[in-house]
Amino acid sequence: MSIIILAIESSCDDTAAAVLQDGAVLSNVVASQDMHRIYGGVVPEVASRAHQENIVPVVDLALRNAGVSKHDLSAVAFTKGPGLIGSLIVGASFAKAMALSLGIPLLEVHHMQAHVLAHFAEDPKPALPFLCLTVSGGHTQIVLVKNHLDMEILGTTIDDAAGEAFDKTGKMLGLDYPAGPIIDKLAQTGQPVFNFPEPQVPGLNFSFSGLKTSIRNFIQNGIKSDPDFIAQHLPDICASVQARIVSILMKKLRLAAQQTGVREIAIAGGVSANSGLRSGLALLGEQEDWNTYIPRFEFCTDNAAMIAVTAYYKFLNGEFAGQDAAPVARMEM
Ligand code: KG4
Ligand code: ZN
Repeated sequence: MSIIILAIESSCDDTAAAVLQDGAVLSNVVASQDMHRIYGGVVPEVASRAHQENIVPVVDLALRNAGVSKHDLSAVAFTKGPGLIGSLIVGASFAKAMALSLGIPLLEVHHMQAHVLAHFAEDPKPALPFLCLTVSGGHTQIVLVKNHLDMEILGTTIDDAAGEAFDKTGKMLGLDYPAGPIIDKLAQTGQPVFNFPEPQVPGLNFSFSGLKTSIRNFIQNGIKSDPDFIAQHLPDICASVQARIVSILMKKLRLAAQQTGVREIAIAGGVSANSGLRSGLALLGEQEDWNTYIPRFEFCTDNAAMIAVTAYYKFLNGEFAGQDAAPVARMEM
């Protein structure tokens, strides 16, 4: 008999649902919340209200796109955390109510583990063990994936996340939120002519707050001598910031590969949609003789297919959740 899982992801500002049959993605629906753009960041209370409005149509569309009735489902999965608690509660409550009313099992999923396992949503899949650089709005991690549900964090950020570095730079440049994709686009028409310093953090940990300060000083000094400085140099500033963020990430990934001897190398999370990071990894992979894995765009940013894939491995392992399951804002992997 088939295992058909409906998964719900609502940890931040995207309401997402997906249906997975025996490990194959049948549908993957995301409703993005555009209203945060005007606030320059995600407003938690606004996000949870929008999740409440979106969740029924999003789940309905995911089932219809998959050609699956809710009575065909084997289990319902949801994101337990980490994330915004009000947003998580919407997805968790919906999933629990649905599992209870259908009399089927419930599965809870760690959002960052799911970003890593997005690689198993389609072929080619990395061979185990592999290294995954997971870069999102809230996290920057180098993860050693020993098995689907057995991961070890080898390095993490000691301050800002890589996505935050993009978003905060964008704010300083007067760009909309989230600025990552906008900087990516602008960078493609510029040159990395400005040299931002590389942080000196030992081992496999990351730091982006020093970079943020140097970008702020650079912009303030530029504006002092020319009020039009940003407008005059925007593509080059974006290309330079992006090049530095990518070089910081690649340096640590290379070190992790050297230290572990692992040559199966993947990237995941929202920032892995970045064109500079994608080409940077492909290039380094050729130099280092790695097998590299870069997810399709829809599996990079927040999505429910990755939650469904993770839930599928938990289902096979018999790791079900009870009706007392509750989301948490912060959680260890
Ligand atoms: O994984 P994700 O969708 O949500 C979180 O779990 O945080 O990641 C969102 C982050 C944001 O910081 C956004 O600016 C960044 O991913 N991002 C990008 C790109 N697309 C999304 N950063 C750089 N270049 C992109 N193309
Ligand atoms: Zn995410």
